[in-house]
Amino acid sequence: MSRILITSALPYINGVKHLGNLAGSMLPADVYARAMRLLGHEVLYICATDEHGTPAELAAQEAGITVSEYCDKMHAAQKGAGENFKLSYDYFGRSSTPSNHVLTQHFAHRLEAEGLIEEKISQQVYSVDDKRFLPDRFVEGTCPTCEYESARGDQCDNCGRLLDPIDLINPYSAVSGSKNVEIRDTNHLYLRQSLMADRLRVWIDKAQGWPALAKSIAYKWLDEGLRDRSITRDLSWGIPVAHEGKVREGFEEKVFYVWFDAPIEYIAATQDWAAETGNDWARWWRTDKGADDVSYVEFMGKDNVAFHTLSFPTTIIGSGEPWKLVDKLKAFNWVTWYGGKFSTSQKRGVFMDQALSIAPSDYWRWHLIANAPEGSDAGFTFEDFQARINSDLANVLGNFVNRITKYAGGKFEGKVPSQDEFSGAIWGEAEDWIVSELSTRLPKLIEYYEAMEFRKAASETRAIWAAGNEYLTQAAPWTHYKTNIDQAAMGTRIGLNLVALFGILAQPIIPDAAEKILSALNVPEGNRTWNFVGEDADWKTAVTDILDALPKDHAISAPDVLFAKIEDGDVAEWIARFGGAEA
Ligand code: MF3
Ligand code: ZN
Repeated sequence: MSRILITSALPYINGVKHLGNLAGSMLPADVYARAMRLLGHEVLYICATDEHGTPAELAAQEAGITVSEYCDKMHAAQKGAGENFKLSYDYFGRSSTPSNHVLTQHFAHRLEAEGLIEEKISQQVYSVDDKRFLPDRFVEGTCPTCEYESARGDQCDNCGRLLDPIDLINPYSAVSGSKNVEIRDTNHLYLRQSLMADRLRVWIDKAQGWPALAKSIAYKWLDEGLRDRSITRDLSWGIPVAHEGKVREGFEEKVFYVWFDAPIEYIAATQDWAAETGNDWARWWRTDKGADDVSYVEFMGKDNVAFHTLSFPTTIIGSGEPWKLVDKLKAFNWVTWYGGKFSTSQKRGVFMDQALSIAPSDYWRWHLIANAPEGSDAGFTFEDFQARINSDLANVLGNFVNRITKYAGGKFEGKVPSQDEFSGAIWGEAEDWIVSELSTRLPKLIEYYEAMEFRKAASETRAIWAAGNEYLTQAAPWTHYKTNIDQAAMGTRIGLNLVALFGILAQPIIPDAAEKILSALNVPEGNRTWNFVGEDADWKTAVTDILDALPKDHAISAPDVLFAKIEDGDVAEWIARFGGAEA
């Protein structure tokens, strides 16, 4: 048993996230957190809304409310959407809280003391009509690479190139639309990442738990030569460039850049969690206070990798203080929508809040994990969604549970048959087969979770459910019932124990269905863990015990319909509502 700290990339505040965002960070983080808790680890799962930066200001402006009101509202909406999706955060914080202000200013101060911050004059786009500088997305114009006409100051949405606002051709203000803009000098703080390159490389060379995708992205940046990065912006919403209450001279109209303060919120949110729950945050984050035996795992989309492997570690290592660094990192590719991009503006794709009006959260969770964008991008279509749910959940799991619980209800008074020691029953080939299946598959399943191989974990879970069906077909208690009731009792008993096991194994991915199954079987809360093998036991013994775990005469019932099938008509309606293939 160990301690595991889990964070998933903080979702931007500007709107409830679409299913692609969910699938590429928060959902797998939640599944992993649940699995690790079941294995008996002490888990802390932290997430928060990322509330600063130009997207927040622009969205507030569009909604006609202040940024702070906008953030309150959207934080509540995102928190609610996460809860409805059964994301089991220990804490869902906000990057705009006082604790993050204090900590961000602390890190900037430490970095400056270590010689890693430099104040420099640079050129910036200034809007004469708006009377302000236009950072990042506040300026739009023509992309110098692909000539796309509404490229944003920080990135071109058409060709993907990262931009500096002053590179744009024909720039205009996204605030007012004014073309009356000019380039002016202004001062900013720069984080001298270049000075950290060697230390970062040594650390990355040693890193063990990173997938190839993450390492290659980090090395690519290092090989190209790390550039110093400005960590302040001309904005009013954000964390003031101050230290111990005193604003830095010349920075009265500036705040820290969102990507500087956002990852620090992982720590600040832990502090807020600790303050609210009476816990100690330092034992999770300070290696001088016990965090050296924490395993820290980060989940994110691939566009976030450079920030988590280079920028944030620069902040952490550069501070010269004993903060915890990431140990394992899981990065995801994209989920595509009918082969194209999810798009808010073009209304393509499903957002978290809408999704639950279509289907229960378990359906989405199962599909998105079984189809996780792990090795490459993963396509989403409603047709695939329907096929997978109907087959895996309704046919394989749902039918199994239904078949044997109903049978026990009809023939054994809704009890676990109590025929002693299988008196007249013969432990036969079917029983040997299920024991051997489970004793190879269960340890594999656990390995996949530990390795954060989500697709494989889902397919192994399904294979275990399918083995249950195969067992029932072979054991066929119903054919023995008249001639050898003991044999029928044994098959039913093993079948019911399989139902309990399947509920227990389903918990990380489909927690609601798992709960229904386990409460129909009256499995007490304390008996739902993944504590399958003791210290010196082996899997064969463990599985044999699992198949006889429910007490004899224990009352069970058949759960209500677990999974309603998705009909063709539903799919047609959803496509009409949310858009299918690009026209
Ligand atoms: N908001 C960012 C995004 O959606 C992620 C921030 S992750 C953090 O891409 F570490 F900075 F918080
Ligand atoms: Zn472009």
